[in-house]
Parts: sequence; C-alpha cells; structure tokens
Amino acid sequence: MARTMAGTVFNHPVHSLDFVKVTESAALAASRWMGRGERDAADGAAVEKMREALGDMEISGRIVIGEGERDEAPMLFIGEEVGAGGEEVDIAVDPVEGTNLVANGLPNSIAVMAISERGGLLHAPDSYMKKLAVGPKSAPYVHIDAPVRENLEAVANALEKPINDVCVVILDRPRHAELIKEVREAGARIRLISDGDVDACIATAIDNTGIHVAMGTGGAPEGVLAAAAIKCLGGNFMGRLQPRNQEEADRAVAMGFGDLNRVLEIDDLVKSDNVIFCASGITDGDLVRGVRFFGNQARTHSIHVHSGGTVRFIESIHRLGARPTGR
Ligand code: FBP
Repeated sequence: MARTMAGTVFNHPVHSLDFVKVTESAALAASRWMGRGERDAADGAAVEKMREALGDMEISGRIVIGEGERDEAPMLFIGEEVGAGGEEVDIAVDPVEGTNLVANGLPNSIAVMAISERGGLLHAPDSYMKKLAVGPKSAPYVHIDAPVRENLEAVANALEKPINDVCVVILDRPRHAELIKEVREAGARIRLISDGDVDACIATAIDNTGIHVAMGTGGAPEGVLAAAAIKCLGGNFMGRLQPRNQEEADRAVAMGFGDLNRVLEIDDLVKSDNVIFCASGITDGDLVRGVRFFGNQARTHSIHVHSGGTVRFIESIHRLGARPTGR
C-alpha cells in the first residue's frame, strides 16, 4: 500500500525526529573546520556528510533548495533525488549556513534543513530577498511595506515593551545604511551580524533569545529556510525578491516568478502545512550551541520544529567514527 503524508513522516514523531541526524552529521563535519579560514572546505565536508545521512533516510526526497544548479554543484544540487526510497518529500538544505562564520570561528553558524510534502517549498532563485521576520505575538501587526518605525512600534506594542527594549537584527552591509539609520531614529536597539540571517530570523520566533525583529536583505534561499521554521513557530516572515542584476531577474522570471515585485507571504514561501525544520549548531549561537568535542565523543545541539507546533531542543552525544543514528 502506498504510504501517505498523513500516516508517515509528518505525523509520526519518531520518523520526523530522525531528520535531526542529517543536520547533526553536517554540523559535526563542518565543526572540524572551525576557525581554519577555509570556508569551502567546511562547506564541502558538511555537504558530503549531509548527503550521506539523507541517503539513509526512508524517503524519496527531491532537493529544491541546495548547493546550486546541477552543473555547478556535484552534490545536493537542485533537483537531485536523495534518500533510500519511501515517502515523496521536497527538501531545502543549507549544510553550512554561515560559511564565513565557521571559517572565522564566529557564532551562529548552523546546518539547516526543511522538509515538506512535494510542492510545499518555494523554489527560490539564487538571488537576494528583502526580509522581515517577527515572532508569534507581533506576527499580525507588521508588514514588509510599512515604514520601519511603524513596524517597530507595532512590535513594541505587541510585546508590551518600550521601543528602546526592542532588538532588531540586521546584516552588517553597506546596503543597509538607510535601514540602520531608520531603526536608530525609531529608538530600537540593533544587533549587527556579519553573516547568518537564517538563525537571526528564527530567533525572533523563539522566546528569550533577546531578538525581536529581523530586517534587511539577504539570500533568497535562506529566506525560504527561515520561513519554514517560522511558519511552524507561528511567527511571521515576509519577503520580496531583490535580483542583483538583470541576469538574476531574468532567471527568476524563467523560474515562474511573474511579478518580481510582489510580496511573498509566509504561505507563498512555504505552501505546505506539513513541514519539518531542523538545524544543528556548528558554532555557538542564539538558537543552539555549537559542536563540543571531548575524548572520543562530540556533543551536538539541535532544534527541531514541526508544523504541529512543538519545538524540541535535542542534545546528542556521538561516538566519533560512528555515524549519528538518531535512535
Ligand atoms: P553562506 O552560508 O552561503 O556563506 O551565506 C551566509 C549569509 O550571511 C546568509 O545568512 C545571508 O542570507 C547571505 O549570506 C547574505 O549575503 P551577502 O553576504 O552577499 O550579503
């Protein structure tokens, strides 16, 4: 009998939790490269291990967001079929989100993956996206087209805080000079990050991270990954594609984006209501701790969220040399 979405991966907590072993494998591999200044090596190690771990999963997976197009990425390329066979799912991966962070031993690098039923995740082009992310309490009150001050006042009201308690995360880039000025003028606090906006966006939707809003422009594929987690967490994520040049704009149109200017709501980015998101820390971060080595063992820390709404933080101790089994 054919296995259906309702009866297997997405409604079965044990199977769903198994996906964590995939991000754990990638995080363990990448963490060996922490601070060694070699971002490509960190990424390559994580890609290989993530693909190997996906190969053990009883799924028929299709990569919809991955390491690039078929002709430019040897593994985890867009369209690659992964898994040992089973339920048909779409998969978005970023084996190292924040390659510079790992290379420089800086916080907030994670290995990330989102899984949905087929067709459930937007095939975002490798371009930029303007983003706005907030947690559940602020979710109904913000809009990507509203003035910065208005959004920040709405968040402050929703969180019952003075605006100068609100903390906004922004990628530290020259393109954000005007945004940073507007946030400062509104009176909110800012945390500038050098990389890693997936972690920052998701942190807005988790209590006690001290991060309330993420704003600015970053990678479009990263936007879909963050939106998958935020949808499960009940927050809000809105985006708008921002092609960097005509070639990117043409490519987005060829991929089916009619109006490039349209607002991408969370349900446009993540159409499915059956979603699993997991991330494992490579370096210590706001969401999860990084990999720690001790003796012949290593400890990983991961977050697993499911469209059912449950958030799980999972700490695992791995015997080195053995592959994480998740069971
Ligand atoms: P990588 O993991 O590919 O290095 O991406 C890190 C990142 O900082 C993302 O978190 C962010 O969305 C994007 O790069 C920003 O791009 P840019 O560095 O071009 O501003």
